[in-house]
Amino acid sequence: MQPSAALARIQPSATLAVTARVGQMKRAGVDVIGLGAGEPDFDTPDHIKEAGIRAIRDNRTRYTDVDGTPELKAAVVAKFARDNALDYRTDQVTVNVGGKQTLFNAMVATVDAGDEVVIPAPYWVSYPDVVAFAGGTPVVVPAGPEQDYKLSPAQLDAAITPRTKWVILNSPSNPTGAGYSAAELRALGEVLARHPHVWIFADDMYEHVVFGGFRFATIAQVCPELYERTLTVNGCSKAYAMTGWRIGFAGGAPWLIKAMAKLQSQSTSNPCSIAQAAAVAALTGDQAFLAERAGVFQRRRDSVVAALNAIPGMTCPTPDGAFYVYPSFPELIGRTTPGGVVIDSDEAFVTYLLDEARVAAVHGAAFGLSPALRISYATSDALLAEACARIAEAAHKLR
Ligand SMILES: Cc1ncc(COP(=O)(O)O)c(C=O)c1O
Repeated sequence: MQPSAALARIQPSATLAVTARVGQMKRAGVDVIGLGAGEPDFDTPDHIKEAGIRAIRDNRTRYTDVDGTPELKAAVVAKFARDNALDYRTDQVTVNVGGKQTLFNAMVATVDAGDEVVIPAPYWVSYPDVVAFAGGTPVVVPAGPEQDYKLSPAQLDAAITPRTKWVILNSPSNPTGAGYSAAELRALGEVLARHPHVWIFADDMYEHVVFGGFRFATIAQVCPELYERTLTVNGCSKAYAMTGWRIGFAGGAPWLIKAMAKLQSQSTSNPCSIAQAAAVAALTGDQAFLAERAGVFQRRRDSVVAALNAIPGMTCPTPDGAFYVYPSFPELIGRTTPGGVVIDSDEAFVTYLLDEARVAAVHGAAFGLSPALRISYATSDALLAEACARIAEAAHKLR
């Protein structure tokens, strides 16, 4: 027996691999600083945890409707209305086992062999793999630091063919933190309006982790003419520090929501009933802490961006949101480590950082744009300062 052809089309998640490696090193007693994980270092707030505990005590521990309890769907409808001025009915809402399952359901339920999905790079690692697993062709469009890591309308127009099924937009972005303004989304929307066969997967997972003057917007809100063919995707993982609870959700066309539920009914069935009860508390409870936490991330962003930009050969744009920075370092490629290894790729640089500086980051190639690396600054100020100092020292030692 051999793994299937579908499985051969995908890679294990590079970000989860780095997290696993850091865990192994720590257990072996190595003083490593892990900046690879894509999750807030905050705890799930108490009122959300209590809702989960109450659900257990109340025996809400049985199967639920496949793609979400009526209570959670109602809470998602209210969330879209409150935060995004988007009007969805409950039959337009799906609840899934994390945002990753939302992506998986949407792609596997709609993509046929030969269908194309436009993915701006750098991208969240799962987009191309899930598209490829579904049998589709990822059409990766590079959007580098010179264009603030954002797809231009002209690039979008050029990437669309008669086979294009979806374009994936992620704002603020994992891995760059770049966010599209309402005006930028409108400009992309004008292109999409000319291509009525293309659907939009709007991944808003980092909606509540935004900084300074950046105002979050989502495409179905600012381009109402695209509402019918947009899947607006969000979840509890990043905003509410609930990565382990596994709740993602989306709003979109009823037929698509139904198709996704059909697939889910033959894979995971419902998301955990206890996590769903906790998610109701997250979405309907106090929202004030979201801005407070974003303020903490903003402070860390500022110190990390400053520290990385002070390293000769490294350029780190200032993100609008999320908790990642994506510095690029073309000048460091070709240099040699004290051990005599030539840094010929960003993967080699990240390996050198892990061995020499004991700092774990994820190489840019995993996100489709090199030479760069992704640093998650969802960790303490002290560890971040130490990590940046170690990176600077390691970069300095290159010849
Ligand atoms: C852009 C983006 N979308 C979706 C997800 C999925 O999140 P989860 O499956 O943990 O809810 C992530 C997680 O890393 C992400 O970065």
